[in-house]
Amino acid sequence: MNVALVFGGRSSEHAISCVTAGNVLAAIDRTKYDVTPIGITTSGRWLLQQGHERLAITDGVLPEVTSGDEVLFTSVPGAPVQADGRDPLADIDVVFPLLHGPWGEDGTIQGLLELASIPYVGSGVYASAASMDKVHMKAAFRAAGLPVGPYVAISDREWRTDRAAALARVRALTLPVFVKPARAGSSIGITRVTDPADLEAAIEFARQHDPKVVVEQGIADAREIECAVLVRDGIPAASVLGEIRVHGEHTFYDFEAKYLDDGADLIVPAELPTAVADRVRATALKAFAALDCEGLARVDFFVLHDGGVIVNEVNTMPGFTPISMFPRLWAASGVPYPELIDTLITDALRRGTGLR
Ligand SMILES: Nc1ncnc2c1ncn2[C@@H]1O[C@H](COP(=O)(O)OP(=O)(O)O)[C@@H](O)[C@H]1O
Ligand SMILES: [Mg+2]
Repeated sequence: MNVALVFGGRSSEHAISCVTAGNVLAAIDRTKYDVTPIGITTSGRWLLQQGHERLAITDGVLPEVTSGDEVLFTSVPGAPVQADGRDPLADIDVVFPLLHGPWGEDGTIQGLLELASIPYVGSGVYASAASMDKVHMKAAFRAAGLPVGPYVAISDREWRTDRAAALARVRALTLPVFVKPARAGSSIGITRVTDPADLEAAIEFARQHDPKVVVEQGIADAREIECAVLVRDGIPAASVLGEIRVHGEHTFYDFEAKYLDDGADLIVPAELPTAVADRVRATALKAFAALDCEGLARVDFFVLHDGGVIVNEVNTMPGFTPISMFPRLWAASGVPYPELIDTLITDALRRGTGLR
């Protein structure tokens, strides 16, 4: 069985994707799988990579895909992957796209793999695209009757032609609000706004990452609870829950709290009353289904002090290093990291490509 591990990529999460790939390369069962590592550079070139040694943060320096033999990928079913004009990679059975953010987690690479008829780990085109876009994601949650907080979407056209109308809708929300690029991740471009005078600047800042913006009413005094969904034997299962506790100097789970040392604690399992935990897990499975997700997803919640549950978002390719929340939640649910990788690949092969 030949697995192509595709990582790096054009999004701002390039380095974290490389680190994840290093961990997967080190943990994957080599008696079962031949692995072809393919790195995508920040400019979008596909390069054949070697082992996992260089894919770690060394002395504070983040890894990056820079060199390797060029890989050509065509959308023609049969022999889509070629290196240097030769054809040594044509027998790839399944792709593991370990990519975060736009041009990876957003349905684009999934579309390429569908055209080439190569099975791949994780969600398909629609679920990937809809989960990347906070506006469409919330619409799907609402349509499925799932609890979503108040929000306003601002398209690029509206901001350019009728800014006053957009701001009027935003002012109907209660402060603080969270201003976000619709299609980003890692808290990049997000501002927590407490003063109306700061709104326009926050929207312009979010627009540096995506011309489409969403403004959400802040959920006050809520705990951040996460659930990992994994498809096993064709059936989605919900993990035990984890909690993110952000340290005092951060007002929310921002980029620094996520990636710099000591910004937040990940508590596994989260301490919650059984009835609340059961509701979160059941809601996670409904959110997974509402977006037609496949393979895996992490579903993030705000849990209120009265036990109320609000869905924040679904991540179709969540952080996947062994210390990331998704693998930790499954480890605590009885599925160790190497078995997790195996389960994902098995599910991708079971599903195949095409309409399903
Ligand atoms: N409506 C909200 N109320 C309270 N906190 C929020 C809200 N939206 C976002 N946050 C905070 O910002 C963080 C990042 O927001 P999120 O929507 O998860 O973006 P990303 O996709 O970048 O992870 C959350 O983990 C949470 O700490
Ligand atoms: Mg998030």
